[in-house]
Order: sequence, then structure tokens, then C-alpha cells
Amino acid sequence: MIPKKVLITGGGGFIGSNAAEHYLRKGTEVIIIDNLSRKGSDTNLKWLKTTGSNFKFQNIDIRDHKRLGEFFKKHSDIDTILHFAGQVAVTSSLVDPRYDFETNALGTFNILEGMRNYCADAVLLYASTNKVYGSLEQLQIKEGKDNYQLIKYKKGITETFALDFHSPYGCSKGAADSYIKDYSRVYNLKGIVFRQSCIYGEHQLGIEDQGWIAHFIIRAILNRPITIYGDGKQVRDVLYIKDLLEAYDKAIEKSNKIGGDVFNVGGGVQNQISILQFIHFLEDELDKKFDIKFKDVRAGDQKIFISNNGKIKNSLGWSPQTKWKIGVRKLIKWVKENQELFENF
Ligand SMILES: NC(=O)c1ccc[n+]([C@@H]2O[C@H](COP(=O)([O-])OP(=O)(O)OC[C@H]3O[C@@H](n4cnc5c(N)ncnc54)[C@H](O)[C@@H]3O)[C@@H](O)[C@H]2O)c1
Repeated sequence: MIPKKVLITGGGGFIGSNAAEHYLRKGTEVIIIDNLSRKGSDTNLKWLKTTGSNFKFQNIDIRDHKRLGEFFKKHSDIDTILHFAGQVAVTSSLVDPRYDFETNALGTFNILEGMRNYCADAVLLYASTNKVYGSLEQLQIKEGKDNYQLIKYKKGITETFALDFHSPYGCSKGAADSYIKDYSRVYNLKGIVFRQSCIYGEHQLGIEDQGWIAHFIIRAILNRPITIYGDGKQVRDVLYIKDLLEAYDKAIEKSNKIGGDVFNVGGGVQNQISILQFIHFLEDELDKKFDIKFKDVRAGDQKIFISNNGKIKNSLGWSPQTKWKIGVRKLIKWVKENQELFENF
């Protein structure tokens, strides 16, 4: 099923602008809501315009329930909502927890209310995070030369792991994640939650606080120093944006069966890398040595997270297709071609 009319909140952001391009190419009518608070989100919208596709943009802050309500009332024929707008960094959530709460928890609640009141038959996909599982300190971990390794759960973390919201960001995303699950249950809505690992790809305007793969590539290409928080052995399973969009397609297709369901979605075991391994790969690819500094590990930073994609594979027939080195090379190419975007980063 190809959506006819999709609302993308946070459509000026990395995942949102890629999703907009993806659905515009399929002929879907796309409406983007964004308050353009993320630096560079306006440049993503400019890029979307150059693709020649027709999308509508509304500068609405999702904290503003009145404006959102009016918006939903006017657009009750929306059949798909991709909810990406949010405060995205753990670090910023510690500095301004109220803003984080209002955007992620209350903002999501406002979206749910708009949906319940005006387009209750729509599908809602929410970009939640693996941070809802907390710092996972209970895991038995082996320390390798340049990475951490799981001793048990070698296939990764499943959805059955206990929720343990850690940091204001973990709490606000976790609250939104739980609200979507419960609204689907009590109001019979088709809300689907993706607990996503690190996503990377073109149009990711990575900064030190969020989007580390793009951030390191941008710093390396611009010959700027790089800071690693912790020992750099932290491991993440990384997922290329185009693979994530395939997973959204499959979830929308099967939304009648999976409303209210939750899936871990990441690069999985095959696409696990540590920061140090990534840096070494990048130095080889760019053929230069970087100026690297180490600082104290950040609060709540998981030593290792690998998504077990078993549930989404069984339910939707989805698994990641892009090997991390291939996807990262595409991002390197994009950053090289768009260096002017990052001069003031
Ligand atoms: N990128 C990842 O690796 C990753 C991993 C897990 C979960 N997520 C989630 O996916 C979503 C999208 O992430 P992204 O990497 O594209 O981030 P992004 O910062 O590039 O995009 C978020 C967009 O939301 C907009 N926004 C922020 N606050 C808003 C508000 N109050 N009202 C309206 N718009 C607002 C920003 O301007 C930005 O364009 C986020 O909810 C994030 O928590 C991302």
C-alpha cells in the first residue's frame, strides 16, 4: 500500500527529509510540519524543492496543540503520519529537560490527540530509540582491543528487555513510545513504534551532540579536531537511511496487523562498529590521520547496543541490506560534495 497523503513531522530533519523525498517519488502527497529549530533543516527543505516535487510545508511547533488541532481538522484525509519531530540529543535534554519533555512527550501527545480526533484511521509510525532500554549495565560485556563485545545475547537486544528510561531524553522518548502503544490499545489506533539504533546517511547534519557518524565525517573532511567521549570502544549497530525507509514501507503495508506493536530496528549484528573501529576506517578511506582528543564518558552512554532484528524480520520480512562500509562511503561522498553546508558548523 502506497500512502496517498502523508504528514511528516520533523520533515526538515535528516530522517524526515529523506522520507519526504522517498514518498514524493512514489507520487504521495506530502505535508511537512517542522519548526526549523535544527540547524540546517531549512537547507534540507531547499534540497527537497530542487527534487522538483511538490510538497507543502507548515512551520508549526508540535508543542502548540491549538495550531496542531486546527491543522488536523483541515487535513482529516491524511492516511499516514510519520512522526519524527523532536528534541534529539541526550546532552541537550540534560541542559533543558523542560524543552525536551514538552517537545518529545507533550508534542507526541498532541499528535496523538490530533490523530484520535480527526484521522483515527491513519497509520502512525513513531521514531523511538534504543535509549528506552537504559544504559544496560546488567549486560555481561567483554572488553576487546578496540571494542566491547556481548558475552550473552550475541544476537542483540530484543523488545522483551525491560524498559529503563535513562536521561530526560530517554524519559521523554520513552513516554511518547508508551503513549503510542497505549493509545493504539485503548482507542484502537494504528500506532507503530520503531526503537531505532543509530541511523546514518545523506542529509544528516551531524553535530557533536547527535548524529555521530556524519559528525565525524564532517570534522574529518574539514580537517577539524575530533573529540571522543569515553574510551571509544562503545559499539553501535548502524543502519543506512534507505534501509530504514524500506522498513517504514513494510510497516505501512502491514499496518492492519501490527497496530500497537513495537520493533527494535537497527543495523544488527552484521553492522556493529565501535567508535575506534569507525575512526580507523575513516582514516584509511580519507587517507589522513585525525587530531583526536578523549574526554570523560557521557552520562547514560551504553557501552554496547546491538538491535536484535528478529521480530521485525519475522513480522515484516525486513532486514538491513546495506553493509555499513558501503553506506558510510555514500555519506562520505555526499559530505564531500556539500562541504559548504558545514563551514559554520
Ligand atoms: N538519527 C538517529 O540516529 C535516530 C535514532 C533513534 C531515534 N531517532 C529519532 O528520529 C527522529 C528524527 O531524527 P533525526 O536524526 O532526523 O533528527 P533531526 O534533528 O535531523 O530532525 C528532527 C526535526 O524535528 C524538528 N523539530 C524539533 N523540535 C520541533 C518542534 N517542537 N516542533 C516541530 N518540529 C520540531 C527539527 O527542526 C528537525 O528538523 C527523532 O525523533 C529522533 O529522536 C533518530
